[in-house]
Amino acid sequence: MKLIISLLISVGCFAQNTLSIIPKPQSIDIGKGKFSIDENTQIAVSSDNTEATAVAEQLAIRLKIIKNRPIEIVSANSGNNKILFLKNSKIAKEGYELRVSNKNITIEASNPVGHFYGLQTLLQLLPSEIFGASIQPNLNLSIPACTIKDEPRFEYRGIMLDLGRHFFSIEFLKKMVDVMAINKMNTFHIHLTEDQGWRIEIKKYPKLTEIGSIRKESMVGHYRDQKYDGTPYGGFYTQDQMRDLVAYAQRKFITIVPEIEMPGHALAALASYPELGCTGEQFEVGTKWGVEPRVFCPNEKTFSFLEDVLTEIMDIFPSQYIHIGGDECPKEAWKKSDFCQNLMKKEGLKDEHELQSYFIRRIDQFVSSKGRKIIGWDEILEGGLSPNATVMSWRGVEGGIAAAKQKHDVIMSPNSHMYLDYYQANPSTEPLAIGGLLPIEKTYSFEPFSPELTTEEAKYIKGVQANLWTEYVATPEYAEYMLFPRAIATAEIGWSDKTKDFEDFSNRLMQHFKRLDQMAVNYSKAFYNVSFTTEKNSLNQPVLSMSSNDKNGVIRYTIDGTMPNSKSFEYSPKNKITIGGDRNISAALFSKEGNMISTISSKSYTISKSTGKSYSLGTEPKKYFGGEKMALTNGIRGDENSNDPWVGFNGGNLDFTLDFGQKTSFSNVSIGFLGAATAWIMPPKSLEIFTSDDNKTFKSIKKMDLGLSTKNESFVQQLNISVGTANAKYLKIVAENYGKLPIGHPGQGSPSWLFVDEISVK
Ligand code: ACM
Repeated sequence: MKLIISLLISVGCFAQNTLSIIPKPQSIDIGKGKFSIDENTQIAVSSDNTEATAVAEQLAIRLKIIKNRPIEIVSANSGNNKILFLKNSKIAKEGYELRVSNKNITIEASNPVGHFYGLQTLLQLLPSEIFGASIQPNLNLSIPACTIKDEPRFEYRGIMLDLGRHFFSIEFLKKMVDVMAINKMNTFHIHLTEDQGWRIEIKKYPKLTEIGSIRKESMVGHYRDQKYDGTPYGGFYTQDQMRDLVAYAQRKFITIVPEIEMPGHALAALASYPELGCTGEQFEVGTKWGVEPRVFCPNEKTFSFLEDVLTEIMDIFPSQYIHIGGDECPKEAWKKSDFCQNLMKKEGLKDEHELQSYFIRRIDQFVSSKGRKIIGWDEILEGGLSPNATVMSWRGVEGGIAAAKQKHDVIMSPNSHMYLDYYQANPSTEPLAIGGLLPIEKTYSFEPFSPELTTEEAKYIKGVQANLWTEYVATPEYAEYMLFPRAIATAEIGWSDKTKDFEDFSNRLMQHFKRLDQMAVNYSKAFYNVSFTTEKNSLNQPVLSMSSNDKNGVIRYTIDGTMPNSKSFEYSPKNKITIGGDRNISAALFSKEGNMISTISSKSYTISKSTGKSYSLGTEPKKYFGGEKMALTNGIRGDENSNDPWVGFNGGNLDFTLDFGQKTSFSNVSIGFLGAATAWIMPPKSLEIFTSDDNKTFKSIKKMDLGLSTKNESFVQQLNISVGTANAKYLKIVAENYGKLPIGHPGQGSPSWLFVDEISVK
């Protein structure tokens, strides 16, 4: 009996280890037995495979730390108690086959990169301590017998870090390379130039770093606050430092792709060399986040400057891709410039988009003439795509689809799934971020192939990338918090097969967290957060259930808006919570010992005479954010920090008729509107309330011109409207859409969105 139990434990333990490989390999067969690395284990490279020696050495160094003994690399094609790096030219470029038996371990690949990835998988089969800096020499290094055959789905698997808004040390960049490598990512795109800072030494233009790398102050708090810290901020990398980073990353098969932004996001360069702008004015390095109207002028001085800069950049960075930005370039400066208007006439360019295309085309010609390839954000499609350009699709996937249809290579990096500067959990419980909401489940759900593409077109989708813009990310700890674990979901999308099971990924991720702990990575715990599902019972009351990705923890909650702690109510799936009155539920996951593991999740409920009642809408909404059609009376109040569960009308009015089912008396109507002018969401202009007993003739009981605020940032305007004493079977509410977006708004003249939730009646 004892034997059976210990066998079960060891099998269970191995199964868990095996399952915790991220990214998930293409195939895993579990064998019988195990291999244990001991004092006598040798690392061997076959005689035809000496180019894999540098990879084998990386394993030797790891094992040296543990076993505290020199581990030599021998030459052998087979043998017992060996970890053998063997050549197999039939295996795809980045693929590998890993075989673990009682006798030995073999890693076969056609290239060193495949051996490196085989090694990463092997390390993930060992205890998580293998990833630590200091390791107990008696650590048990047993590996379950198995055969793993693996290769990536996509050739480009990347992360972008914005070094312009904030500067991060080379040590930190190396740490990011280390973390990327263990998940088989192969591209680190560094955004080196911005309005708020130029971060790379260019020998021919020293003022770029003398002047352009320092801004006189930075924004504090949210953009809407328009506050500044009054403290100069700067930093740049020398070319030698960057060469050192490139070499470090090369050893881990990661390509550093540099980005030199043009023609927009160039204020730091213009502050250093004013002749590169359209007016020649002297500017200061940017201090305010956002889209900057002062951009490079497409004159010959600018082109010589950029060619010189790119020449030095290509000398530092051997990467095939050179990123040239291309996003968010307002055209006002070019519209006002006689030079630009004349150039457009001379070149037969019909508008400023074609002028931007002309700009990118010239840079493309230059970069291509040096044997490299430009990559740019999806705005480079506007005005015509340059012949050799690869498109990085960020404003959704549409740009990527359009580029693939034009037979151009594409990296999918849509802000809907890959913008890691967005909040990963309820913003009220998170550090300040730019906005949006992107939980890891959503990142993980991304599928790079769009159904709009034919099989032939889909071949142009070369991979995926997660982006971290750093306006609000000033420290390495916070950068790690935003990147991880969401970037690990990106790694799996880039490598593993299409069928994705988030629960399976979650189980592996919880094991992977132990590796990140060993590497001292400050990953976010939002993965453990409690999520809510609301159904309704026969009395139309909301019934709430809660869950977490970690089934071993204890969910604790409060119902009065206070923070949950280790003594709060314990949730059990057997006892779902019936919401009988207005409640602010806050919940978190706790360990058995009472430590809070997650951050806090919350939801507001409003229970009234309308809750659960059916209604009709005169105008169909454009979108049910949160997905639920009965969202206006489901008892759940729209949350200013997420899209859930707002009902959105694009240009249309709210025309809502509630059926109480029987004559009902009431004196108060409450209704919430979301305002967020930057997202084109405006409050209604006016509101009218009617009653009816037959749903045909309606009596107006209240009419109001609202004059609500049109602030930029997301906020809820809750109207509590007293209607005297009303008694009716039907209640109708018409809220008039704000209309076209006003002059001065970036979307001037386009229809505004009207966001409504929850309509409660008392
Ligand atoms: C971008 O986010 N402006 C590429």
